[in-house]
This record gives sequence, C-alpha cells and structure tokens, in this order.
Amino acid sequence: MSRSTTVGILGGGQLAMMLAQAAERLELSVSVYEEDPGAPAFHTRASRVQASPRDSDRLRAWLEGLSVLTFENEFVDTSLLRECLPAGLRVFPSLAALDLVQDKLRQKVYLSELGFPVPAFREAPDAAAAEAFAAEQGWPLVLKERRHGYDGRGTYVLKDAEELRRFFAERKSPDSLLAEAFVPFTMEIAVQVARNPRGQVSCFPIVKTFQTNGVCHWAKAPASLGPEEAEQITVLARRLMESLQAVGVFAVEMFCAPEGGILINELAPRVHNSGHYTIEGCRTSQFEQHLRAVTDADLGSTELLHPGMAMINILGDFEGPYRLEGADRVSQNHPAILHWYHKKTSGRGRKLGHLTAWGSTSDEAMRHALEARKELHLCPSE
Ligand SMILES: Nc1ncnc2c1ncn2[C@@H]1O[C@H](COP(=O)(O)OP(=O)(O)OP(=O)(O)O)[C@@H](O)[C@H]1O
Ligand SMILES: [Mg+2]
Repeated sequence: MSRSTTVGILGGGQLAMMLAQAAERLELSVSVYEEDPGAPAFHTRASRVQASPRDSDRLRAWLEGLSVLTFENEFVDTSLLRECLPAGLRVFPSLAALDLVQDKLRQKVYLSELGFPVPAFREAPDAAAAEAFAAEQGWPLVLKERRHGYDGRGTYVLKDAEELRRFFAERKSPDSLLAEAFVPFTMEIAVQVARNPRGQVSCFPIVKTFQTNGVCHWAKAPASLGPEEAEQITVLARRLMESLQAVGVFAVEMFCAPEGGILINELAPRVHNSGHYTIEGCRTSQFEQHLRAVTDADLGSTELLHPGMAMINILGDFEGPYRLEGADRVSQNHPAILHWYHKKTSGRGRKLGHLTAWGSTSDEAMRHALEARKELHLCPSE
C-alpha cells in the first residue's frame, strides 16, 4: 500500500467510520464524502467533504483527488458517478457490480442463472401476479422492494391473500416487487469474503446472525456448522466473488434451509454488520481487509483470535436526542468492547453502536456480551 494512496469512501455512516479507523491503523489516507455534518465517519481523522451526493461539481472535484473510490453502502447513483468519474480512477467494487446488487430482482436472477441456491422467487408487478406465485409456493409470502431496502425496510411478510390485497391496495409506488417463497430457516448465517484485483480471495469465519423485523440484533462466530458444510459455503462465496470479478469485501447473507443445505438471501457489496466482530475477533478485520483489497495489497489472515465471538447491536428504542450511560463499565467489567457511532439522535431500531465480546465458545462470548449490554442505558435528553 503506497503512502500516497488516497481511498475515497462515498457515504459517511458507521461502516465508513470503521473503515476510516482501520485506515488510521494502516496509515492509509482516506477521504469521506457525506452530506450529513453529524455523520459517524466525521468523528474520525479522515479528510472530509461535506456535500450532497447529487452535487456533481463537488463530487467531480472530490473524485479528481482520489487514487481509488469505494463505498460504504450500495445506494449510490451509479449514472451520476459514471458522468463524474475522471478517466482511469479505479472503482471497487465496480459500478456494474453495484448496479446488479442494487436491484434485488436482478441480483436473484443473476444468482439463479449461475446455479447458486436461492429461495423460489418471481417478479411481482401487481397483486394478481403475487397471489399466483403464493398459490404455487404457499403462504406466507415475502415481498421485497427491488431497491433501497435495508434493515427490513422494504421487506414485507404477508400471511394470506386478504393481507396481500390490502397491501397492494394501500401501496403508492408503481414499481414492481420481488416475490419470494418464505423460508422457514433453522438459522441465518453470513460470511464476509474479500477479493483483490489480482484475484486473491479470502473468507472470514461463518457467522450466525439473528434478525427481528429484518433488523440484525446480534451475531455469533463461528456459526455451529459441520466442517463440510462450512467448506461448501466458503467455496460458494469464493465462486461468487470470482463470477462477479468483485473487488473488496462482500457479505453473503444465507438461510440454513430446514431440509439441509443453504439458500442465499442476498449479497451486500461492502463490509457488513454481521462482520463487526472481526475488529476484535480476527487477525485482520473486515474493514482492514476491504482496504487491503481495494488498494491491491495482499489480503490479511482471517484467523480467529478467540475461540468464540459475539456482537450485539445497540438499537435505539425512542426518537430524539439521547445520552448514553455506562459506556466506561463495558470494558472495565467484561471481556467486551463498545463501538459508539456518535449519532446525534436515537430512532426506533436505529443502530447507535455495537458491542463485541469474546470467550472460550461463541455461547460464552454471547453471555459476556449480554452482561456487558446491561451496563448501558440510553436516556432521552434535550
Ligand atoms: N424469503 C425469506 N424467508 C424468510 N425470511 C426472510 C426471507 N427474506 C428475508 N427474510 C427475513 O427478513 C430479513 C431482511 O431481509 P433482507 O435481508 O432481504 O432485507 P434488507 O432489509 O435488505 O436487509 P439488510 O438490512 O441486510 O440490508 C432477513 O434477514 C430475514 O430474517
Ligand atoms: Mg439482509
């Protein structure tokens, strides 16, 4: 990694914050472009441009100063970026990969055409199409907005035809949806996988995740899978990165199917909440690995540093400004570390921080994480 390299990160949320923190440890210069002056990444030493992502003049000027462009989330305007990109600027992951992943339907078509296991799905332009699909697959039915869904927003589980008709009657958007068979999974898992431009690929341990209403509440690593199953997932993740010619860290979210085997839920073309445990848990964190990949450095070891890791998200449960109490006690009293995102306001289900704990097993790590979580109190403030 050359000292004169500047990595541009478009977006300034907590993922950008943790990328910038990893860059500090690597002595790599990072520049964050973000509209919100209070964004998490502005609490780091990264250089910054606070401007709208739609401001083509500011965007163009920022891109001119970069050696490589990367993203902290996939919700970027790839058309505008194509107009603004200076010739020769490296962009990782590629805009073509972002275009594909941004659209959940296109992504599913791509995966299934390449033979990757996915739940049964179909495009649902209207209630009749969705109902016909449910008649084949059974209820409940999962409907997803094709674009801009996150933390369960844009994912709907409908229990019967009556609920489905009501859903379409109340729906304002003319856009078609992705209909998916509901998977009664035994467990949700994810894996972070990195690839650099020279084609080196490296997988992190597989992590078990737990979502409520589509929002990740916790993750534990390593997931309890047999060695053969873990190996199959690693091979699949590698094959995915190769077929996409992807560069950077991607996350693959998967369901363990009740009949055995796995189904891919979705890809995230970026570092991922389920991989936050790697900061303390692995020799190289997902954030450092992403920076290594996009700067064409050798990938680092993903070896676990503790036998068991656990991560709990700290989610807001009220709207408005808040005060956090008990932060100091987390590491004083527990084998755990708190990462705070410095967001000005809480929101229901809003990710405000996370804590990571370790132990001799992932269950023990989770017990430590839950004890540490009890130290923290979020209080409304003025
Ligand atoms: N076909 C399905 N069957 C059962 N549960 C599902 C299905 N699809 C999604 N879910 C549940 O909803 C959650 C959110 O779905 P999905 O990952 O597609 O949406 P998202 O909001 O884009 O997620 P993210 O926050 O990871 O970006 C999943 O983690 C899973 O718990
Ligand atoms: Mg998801």
